[in-house]
Amino acid sequence: MGARFIQVSAVYFLIGVVVGLVMGIAEAFQYTSAHAHINLLGWASLAIVGVIYSIYPEAGKTKLANAQFWLHNIGLPLLIVSMILFANGVIGVGIPLASIGGLLVIASVVLFLINAFRNVKARA
Ligand code: HEM
Ligand code: HEM
Repeated sequence: MGARFIQVSAVYFLIGVVVGLVMGIAEAFQYTSAHAHINLLGWASLAIVGVIYSIYPEAGKTKLANAQFWLHNIGLPLLIVSMILFANGVIGVGIPLASIGGLLVIASVVLFLINAFRNVKARA
């Protein structure tokens, strides 16, 4: 899964920097949270996980890694959409979306934690 995490992180990276530039030029700073999380949860976190799974392929091959990948990549877009809705004052739909998206991302991190302790082993 290492390569897939890195490939998806590159997609978030491009979206994140484009949003940053457009937001800066338009002075639409209400989108800062969406921009920050596309870059930090999308680009930075997924790239770090991808590098870890490339260094420890035995952890990257597990069902835990696969489930982590999908939970993160379903949860994060929901979280980002909720942040865009909040930026536009749409609170009613934003709260359940943020809750579901945030919980899915947290669940993916829990799987990563379990996988790291079970399958990332120090080498002799
Ligand atoms: C071409 C690339 C980028 C542009 C043009 C850009 C632009 C911006 C702008 C205009 C802001 C709002 C600043 C403010 O509210 O005063 C911002 C905030 C932020 N950006 Fe970027 N950004 C870029 C790339 C990145 C990357 C690669 C990351 C992370 C890996 C990142 C992380 C953040 C964070 C965390 C904030 C919020 C900072 C805070 O809360 O004070 N940005 N960015
Ligand atoms: C389930 C995961 C996460 C949720 C639900 C979440 C949610 C939030 C929320 C609600 C805010 C306040 C936004 C605002 O005031 O408009 C925030 C701010 C921030 N978060 Fe997160 N966050 C998560 C994970 C992370 C991670 C993993 C990082 C870094 C790697 C991060 C970095 C930041 C930064 C830099 C800010 C301040 C920038 C800004 O939005 O203005 N967050 N987060």
